[in-house]
Amino acid sequence: MPDEVARYLDCRPGQCVVDCTLGGAGHAADICRQIQPGGTFIGIDQDTDAIRNAEKRLPTQDIHRHLVHANFSSLPDTLRDLGISGVDAILMDLGISLHHIEGSGRGFSFQRDEPLDMRMNPNTRVTARDIINTHSEKALKKLFLALGEERLAGPIARKIAAARAKQPIDRADQLAKIITAAVPAAKASRRIHPATRVFMALRIAVNQELDHLETFMSAVPDMLKTGGRICILSFHSLEDRIVKQQLRAHADPCTCPPKLPVCTCGKKPLLRLLTRKVVRPSAEEVNQNPMARSTRLRAAERL
Ligand SMILES: C[S@@+](CC[C@H](N)C(=O)[O-])C[C@H]1O[C@@H](n2cnc3c(N)ncnc32)[C@H](O)[C@@H]1O
Repeated sequence: MPDEVARYLDCRPGQCVVDCTLGGAGHAADICRQIQPGGTFIGIDQDTDAIRNAEKRLPTQDIHRHLVHANFSSLPDTLRDLGISGVDAILMDLGISLHHIEGSGRGFSFQRDEPLDMRMNPNTRVTARDIINTHSEKALKKLFLALGEERLAGPIARKIAAARAKQPIDRADQLAKIITAAVPAAKASRRIHPATRVFMALRIAVNQELDHLETFMSAVPDMLKTGGRICILSFHSLEDRIVKQQLRAHADPCTCPPKLPVCTCGKKPLLRLLTRKVVRPSAEEVNQNPMARSTRLRAAERL
């Protein structure tokens, strides 16, 4: 949704803008163009591949460019280290990049014979292989239900426990085959691969995606200048719920009982919602890019 992102971020020449999720640097390249000349661009990614790609792809002329290998949950520290007290706009495009699926070799795709890793930041400790081979069957079921909303979590966890008793599950396509065997043909979705939800749950767990998002969202007002904007693209309901709830909490923090005629808690709104309802891609965009079909956009402005 590049047009919608541009409209909500409303970047102008000379502004200071953060892209929290560089990925392939497509949005970042647009932002750099919009804030030239004289703008400051801060690009963050927890994957060193994304930083290396951005070093090659993004301009250095007519712009102050900072590319930082970090988790966006520590953006307040990153900004402090750079001596920046507030920014004009922040973009967050959650999830994994095309590079993760097609070129990382880290087992994000269930169609590939790759190590079952799934770490976006290769410096972190726990891999998907660790989780699949060491969590109890009950813990796996809980994880697939909570983070993948997988209806067949029980039978899938059972099949995994039986398979790993014979040999460790090390490869992405090996796990995908075990999951597929646990899903009866009658219950298989025609729209998505049987392993889609389990792979998503594992990826979210390995990268602690929801915890980092919560931490980041709670600090949003402190990082924006007055009139500064944030635009967030998410891809599943668990992420979108956190984004929606935290934006609403910053926009309407009053904790007084609704019957009270005047506010006595003294908590003032810090954000104004720019999107009352979630914004979804047009049918035309989904036609052109089917991967965009689950994108949800929300935006807000600092008061
Ligand atoms: C969907 S891609 C971004 C695509 C990008 N907007 C583009 O135009 O190519 C998401 C990126 O965010 C990064 N990422 C995800 N969670 C992160 C986190 N908590 N901290 C830093 N980077 C993160 C991933 O490594 C990935 O490169």
